[in-house]
Amino acid sequence: MAKVVTVFGATGTQGGGVANALLEDPEFKVRIVTRSASSDKAKALQERGAEVIEGNFDDASSLERALQGAHGTFVMTQHSFEVPDPDQLEIKQGKAVADAAKAAGVQHVVFSSLDPVQKTMGFPCLHYDSKAQIEEYMKSIGLPVTIVKYPGYYDNYLSLRPIKKQEDGTYELNFAMEGAAEHGVSVTDAGFAVRAIFKNRAEWLGRTVGFSAEKLTIQQHADILSKHLAPKVFKPTKMTSDEFSKLPFPGAKHLGDMFKFLRLGNPDYSPELTRQMHPGTRGLDQWVADNKEALLNAMSSSTT
Ligand SMILES: NC(=O)c1ccc[n+]([C@@H]2O[C@H](COP(=O)([O-])OP(=O)(O)OC[C@H]3O[C@@H](n4cnc5c(N)ncnc54)[C@H](OP(=O)(O)O)[C@@H]3O)[C@@H](O)[C@H]2O)c1
Repeated sequence: MAKVVTVFGATGTQGGGVANALLEDPEFKVRIVTRSASSDKAKALQERGAEVIEGNFDDASSLERALQGAHGTFVMTQHSFEVPDPDQLEIKQGKAVADAAKAAGVQHVVFSSLDPVQKTMGFPCLHYDSKAQIEEYMKSIGLPVTIVKYPGYYDNYLSLRPIKKQEDGTYELNFAMEGAAEHGVSVTDAGFAVRAIFKNRAEWLGRTVGFSAEKLTIQQHADILSKHLAPKVFKPTKMTSDEFSKLPFPGAKHLGDMFKFLRLGNPDYSPELTRQMHPGTRGLDQWVADNKEALLNAMSSSTT
């Protein structure tokens, strides 16, 4: 009989990759949790065979329904820079999912965590430290977990958030990495790697893996985007992480802290393990080639 896996965040970027990979495999029956079962994304997943549960991280009874009878669950937590005390809200919501998974007797929890920056580096990074605290809580209550860590996804380019049009017509990539290289992966490929974890529970239980296709500098990102999307020209920002932290938008400080951590902290992401789990994992060059039309469409409909 197919194993039920409850996927949180399936209508979003990260969980969407996981739901997609599991839906292609008859070993699994996918259950998704969304605040709006009538959204286009929820309906599209339902048409592909997913069971849709209307629920909310803030509503314990909906979490209970979502996890009842599930063999496994993919748990991502949301961190919005727009709300007051976003880390406290994320921790509360993550613990609520953990408690519900424990009560339902879920046998395999795959949790999308991030590094404990405050603990290891001595400076905070709000959206990393909150996930690390949830990870610690999951382990403390004895949940059967595998920890996965996503680097910045290539799919961020489709949202255009990292791309800023300049007055001279070029495009700046606003990752303030100060020349350092960082890991990256597409959520589609990472989704297949998560599926491999669910398929090999005994091998993966209790372990941690950081997904990566490859480690590139932002200059290399810019060169790849310029090659495929010519005549558009992309350049890395010259901003430092400290300068980024002072930009006037919600979350700038925390993203600046993140760039500083990625540059100095050498987080553990593994292209080798990721390709063992999903041999088809694409580097940025192939991902941009595959998504050229979508990127051009997003850029042509954008005003920024
Ligand atoms: N961007 C990156 O490169 C990156 C890398 C590593 C980690 N992250 C982390 O990934 C997380 C964001 O994930 P994403 O990029 O997939 O975001 P996203 O595309 O905005 O999707 C958010 C998902 O969360 C669900 N959701 C939001 N609030 C919820 C609630 N109260 N109850 C239940 N479900 C809720 C949404 O479902 P509905 O709207 O359908 O309810 C949606 O499926 C953040 O915590 C971020 O720190 C991001």
